[in-house]
Amino acid sequence: MSLKGKKKQPSSQSENNKMEKIVSLCKRRGFIFPSSEIYGGLSSSYDYGPLGVELKNNIKKEWWKEMVQQRDEIVGLDSAILMHPKIWEASGHLEGFTDPLVDCKFCKKRFRADHLLETKSIKPEFQPATSLKKDDNKCPECGGELTKVRNFNLMFKTFMGVLEDKSAQIYLRPETAQGIYVNFESIRLTTNKKIPFGIAQIGKAFRNEITPGNFIFRTREFEQMEMQYFIHPKEAAKYFEYWKKQRLEWYINLGLNRKNLKYREHQKNELAHYAKVAWDIEYNFPFDQSELEGIHNRGDFDLSRHQQYSGKDLKVLDEETKKEYLPHIIETSGGIDRSLLAFLVDAYTEIEGGRTTTTKSTKEMEVVLKLDKRLAPVKIAVLPLSKKENLEKVSQEIYTKLSQQYMCHYDSTQAIGRRYRRQDEIGTPYCVTVDFDSLEDKKVTVRDRDTMKQERIAIAEIMDYFINKLN
Ligand code: GAP
Repeated sequence: MSLKGKKKQPSSQSENNKMEKIVSLCKRRGFIFPSSEIYGGLSSSYDYGPLGVELKNNIKKEWWKEMVQQRDEIVGLDSAILMHPKIWEASGHLEGFTDPLVDCKFCKKRFRADHLLETKSIKPEFQPATSLKKDDNKCPECGGELTKVRNFNLMFKTFMGVLEDKSAQIYLRPETAQGIYVNFESIRLTTNKKIPFGIAQIGKAFRNEITPGNFIFRTREFEQMEMQYFIHPKEAAKYFEYWKKQRLEWYINLGLNRKNLKYREHQKNELAHYAKVAWDIEYNFPFDQSELEGIHNRGDFDLSRHQQYSGKDLKVLDEETKKEYLPHIIETSGGIDRSLLAFLVDAYTEIEGGRTTTTKSTKEMEVVLKLDKRLAPVKIAVLPLSKKENLEKVSQEIYTKLSQQYMCHYDSTQAIGRRYRRQDEIGTPYCVTVDFDSLEDKKVTVRDRDTMKQERIAIAEIMDYFINKLN
């Protein structure tokens, strides 16, 4: 948990433009909309549209396959968002999940004090209620005087039941991890898993961030994919290295360019309250080199605190020494929204002057979203060359058949070149064109998004063809 961000790099104009173009594409094509837009929007809140929800689901599906389905020693969980308030006392979040906050006395804007210092290349070291030093206590927006530093707890509060008093106060979870720790014993007993084993969970988390921003990079409501690996303490270093490597490879395997990915070790002064060691996998976003996922050695902090606060024995038996011990935890914690943004940034490709030179319209700049086929929101677009009834009939039959297996689009509007480009822009790997010859030879043309190569495939074999290409 990087509560104290890191120094911002200056972004180039073209990188800023890239971000603007991606935000615009997301809105125009139905990936991501600003939330509550007809009411003027809600700051830093976003809704995933028809293409966005497909992309998000595909990312989750790939993570689940890798982390749960293909591993015998990891099981899944979907725990409640609302949990017993004592959990947040035990986890240390009530006391320690804070950001240092300052207000401008003049323009009333709020800032994270650590971010202000980092822009001046000063290492942030905060104690509650200490003020910024000398020249640092000026508002970066209007130059006004800043208040003293206050520690601000990032957990959202709400009430359970009819009474809105302290006794009914509960919290929206700021990480999914705690749901895993409090189920550790039940899962161990019901699955009969032996150490080392893992529990994985995907779900929403909520943080009342002081400075959300950069589109879906930092929001107050977001989704996490977290896995907690319970180990014998003597194996901590081995499993930490193992998971660090595995998680980086997952991103590369799904298409992120290795050059855009970096590891960064957390310094002592930025470690979260539970972490002994923490490394981030960072991505080179257009606005900054920033955290995509964290790998944390949480030691026995979580289980020992829950043991202490709940009074339940969470120890396990060491089969060799016959002594009981508390397992340690290696955590992998990634954000789905951030991964989705990284996959979009990496896939976004502009081709000046277009890729085909046969018609006038294709000389325009083209955008191709080169998403990995597994992530692409739509796998196949079925495009009848004309709206003639006999072509539409065959095309509809092909669409109905393929959509039993894959997310497909059907599009019979506009010129075929424009339709290809619309599909390229949302990353559809294959277009199937049904033309007048199809009525005679019972074949269709399949066009590949990346190579633009076209193949004639028999309609009777079309499902097998795509099973071969997409599975
Ligand atoms: N359980 C450990 C934990 O929550 P974290 O580093 O605070 O660790 C893990 O968060 C991941 O969750 C981050 O790497 C990031 O991908 C995502 N994340 C955290 N805060 C976020 C926010 N405000 N908006 C979007 N994603 C966020």
